[in-house]
Amino acid sequence: MADIPNQEQLEYWNGPVGERWASLQEKIDENLKAITDALFDFARLKPGEHVLDLGCGCGTTSFMAEKSVGEKGKVIGIDISNPMLELARVRAKRLHSHALFIEADAAVHNFQHKFDVVLSRFGVMFFEDPVVGFTNIRHAMRERARLVFVCWRAMRENDWANVPYQAALTWLPPQEASDPFAPGPFAFADAARVKTILVRSGLKDVAIEKLDSKMYMGSTVKSAAEEAMNIGPLAKAARELDEKTRDKIRAAVENAYRRFESKDGIAPPAACWLVRAHV
Ligand SMILES: C[S@@+](CC[C@H](N)C(=O)[O-])C[C@H]1O[C@@H](n2cnc3c(N)ncnc32)[C@H](O)[C@@H]1O
Repeated sequence: MADIPNQEQLEYWNGPVGERWASLQEKIDENLKAITDALFDFARLKPGEHVLDLGCGCGTTSFMAEKSVGEKGKVIGIDISNPMLELARVRAKRLHSHALFIEADAAVHNFQHKFDVVLSRFGVMFFEDPVVGFTNIRHAMRERARLVFVCWRAMRENDWANVPYQAALTWLPPQEASDPFAPGPFAFADAARVKTILVRSGLKDVAIEKLDSKMYMGSTVKSAAEEAMNIGPLAKAARELDEKTRDKIRAAVENAYRRFESKDGIAPPAACWLVRAHV
């Protein structure tokens, strides 16, 4: 256990991964558009509401939330990633947005504001101790406030991630068997566990719905394979390989992605949970 809570994630999202997410912001938003629209339908933000965007990254969902809550509402984004927040602040200026961005660990931050809604697009699965994290967040929620987030189901259900990973296996260095509940993208794959975490954090009326969506990886198999080398489990597993090996993987992934070719490009299945809980 690290001395500082969530230290590993702090380093992870402030290193090359955070930089890459910032440099790929527009592309990642395209990847996630269908899922994001589903999250906002599910969240039903109302004018005047105060929203905390948890693990807001480069701010896209914060700006969307701001549109929904209007001038009388308020949006604050919180994240531990300095490079992603820097971009969020530049975008806020460009968009004349009033959204505020805090660089802090949401699991321990002493929130000075109470929110009607805590919203998150894939920003909740990284707490070392999720009950500690959600308990802290609950304290920042007003009476009757709601927590609404989207997270991934199991990797094997997520073809956008699993198909390229399986196609690359021959060339990947042996991966350590990892704890499936360790902080990471698929840590919330088990809905029963998610419910238990939220209830133990003092939240009520937990509702978890399946979202079967698509992850738009690119217009061609080539661009889609490149994207799989940038984000998701393959990106992580292949990051230290030499360029020659990475080229072989790219070719194998292009081939594997062919089965998803359609007039709309390469958009493999994306399996998520939409989760809602109340104070
Ligand atoms: C998969 S990214 C999603 C980013 C953004 N929500 C999006 O959809 O583009 C996960 C985000 O959670 C942030 N994060 C991880 N642990 C966190 C913590 N303890 N407190 C605040 N943010 C955290 C990361 O820095 C990263 O920006």
